[in-house]
Amino acid sequence: MTDISVKAAGLELKNPIIIGSCGFTETVENIKKLEEAGAGAVVLKSLFEEQIMSDAYDTMGEVKSMFSHPELEDYVKYFEEKDAVGKYLDLIRQAKAAVSIPVIASINCGSFDKWVQFSSEIEKAGADALEINLYLLPSDPGNGEHTYMTTAMDISREVKKHISIPFTLKLGYYSDTLSRDLLTLSRSDVSGLVLFNRPFYPDIDIETEKIKGGYAYSSPAEISTSLRWIAILSDFAETDLIAATGVHSEKGIIKQILAGAKAVQMTSTLYLNSFSVIQRSLDELKSWMKRKGYKSLNDFRGKLSRKDHAIYDRVQFLRRGKEE
Ligand SMILES: Cc1cc2nc3c(=O)[nH]c(=O)nc-3n(C[C@H](O)[C@H](O)[C@H](O)COP(=O)(O)O)c2cc1C
Repeated sequence: MTDISVKAAGLELKNPIIIGSCGFTETVENIKKLEEAGAGAVVLKSLFEEQIMSDAYDTMGEVKSMFSHPELEDYVKYFEEKDAVGKYLDLIRQAKAAVSIPVIASINCGSFDKWVQFSSEIEKAGADALEINLYLLPSDPGNGEHTYMTTAMDISREVKKHISIPFTLKLGYYSDTLSRDLLTLSRSDVSGLVLFNRPFYPDIDIETEKIKGGYAYSSPAEISTSLRWIAILSDFAETDLIAATGVHSEKGIIKQILAGAKAVQMTSTLYLNSFSVIQRSLDELKSWMKRKGYKSLNDFRGKLSRKDHAIYDRVQFLRRGKEE
C-alpha cells in the first residue's frame, strides 16, 4: 500500500493536499464536494475584519439618512461584527458536522484585540486549526520599529495564550525593509532604480529528480509586482524609476507611466514577438496619447500612483463576487 498520509502543522491529514482559503471554501456544499473530490483538508475563506468594517460603514450610510444618534457608529459596528462572526462560526460548526477532513478557519484582522477575540471564538466553534492570514503589504517607509515581523510575532504570541488548537501564520514575502531601502537608495548617488530584475525561477524535473531552470521569459501578467512598487515609490523616490519585467507592449508602457515610471525596459517580448514589437508599441503609445489628449508623457505620468490609490496596498480578495 502506498501511504500518502502526513502529519502537518499539528493535523493528521490523509493526504498532503490542503485546499487554500478561497471562495470555494465559503459554503458547506462546496466543502463537502472538496472532500468528495479527495481533499486532505480545507482552509475556510478568511473572515476579514476589514470587510466587516466596510459593511458597517455602508450600513451606517443607510441608517444615517433615516436618523442620527451619537453612538450610532458603535452600535452598527457591534451588530455588523456580531452578524459576520456569527455566520462564520456557523460555517465552522456546519462544516465540521458535514465532513471528516480537518477544517481550518482563517482570519485577517486590522486591530490587535480582534485577532485574539476571533481566534478564541473559532476554537470554541470547533475548528481543527486556525490560519492567521497576516498578508499585509509593508509599503510605508516610515513604519519605524513596528515592523511586519514584530507584528507577526506579537500576534502569534498573544493568540497562543488564548487558544490550544494548532495555528499557522500565512505570510506575504515582502518585509518592511523593501520600501525603506528603496527610498534610501533613491537618495544615494544613483541616477535611477530599475524595478525589478526577474529572478531565475528554479524548477524540478520530477522524472530525473534534478533541479532545472524554469521558463526564461516573463509574461505580461508579471507586470503587477513592478507596477505596484513603482506606484508606491514614485510619490517619494528622489531618483528616476525605470520599470522592468512584464512590459510586453504599449499597454505595459502606458500602465507603468501612469504608475509613475520614467521609462520601461522590454526584453522577453523581443524574444517572443520579434523586434517589430518596438515600433508597434511606440505607434500604439502615440495613438493612445492622441486619443486621450496627452501631448507628452509628463501629462499622465504618476496619475495613478499610490498617493490617491490605496488599492496598491491591497493584497487579498475580500469578498466573493467582485474579484472571483
Ligand atoms: C478567488 C480567490 C480568493 C482567495 N481568498 C483568500 C482568502 O480569503 N484568504 C486567504 O488567505 N487567501 C485567499 N486566497 C489566496 C489563496 O488561498 C492562495 O494562497 C493563492 O491563490 C495562491 O495559491 P494558488 O497558486 O494555489 O492559487 C484567495 C485566492 C483566490 C484565487
